[in-house]
Amino acid sequence: MSKNVKARKSANLATPTDLGANATKDLSGGLNILLADVYALYFKTKNFHWHVSGPHFRDYHLLLDEQGDQIYAMGDPIAERVRKLGGNTIRSVGQIKKLQRVLDNDADYVTPPDMLAELREDNQLLCKHMRILHELCDEHNDVATASLLENWIDETEQRAWFLFEAGRKG
Ligand SMILES: [Fe+2]
Repeated sequence: MSKNVKARKSANLATPTDLGANATKDLSGGLNILLADVYALYFKTKNFHWHVSGPHFRDYHLLLDEQGDQIYAMGDPIAERVRKLGGNTIRSVGQIKKLQRVLDNDADYVTPPDMLAELREDNQLLCKHMRILHELCDEHNDVATASLLENWIDETEQRAWFLFEAGRKG
């Protein structure tokens, strides 16, 4: 493919925005990493939903299902913010693997308290990353992404709270 054709093809995907090229680059980059984390955390939450066991099975199984749905719902708006800003989103699970900061847990067996503690830490870390991304939004005056992040930070803090309370020993 010649350089010109390539340039024309990528221009087709450059949604017009008044926020500027730096905003597109910085915010798209940050949002794509967040998207990778969200899908990684979604999958881990469902993994634990499927494999949790023991006397609190029903409570934990249902809690993690609700949390999985809430995390999954973040994905599409994050990806569409990237497109609205003129950037390109993650295209595959392979790209998620390269970008994710949330670590997978492929262990054969995880105790329920360890599941809750690990997810709580992951959600708290996600909050931290979203706060940093919010600062970047402020720098570029991207109020729309900032507004979405504010709700997601609240939801993520709520998940961390529920995981903390559900994991209490007494
Ligand atoms: Fe299920």
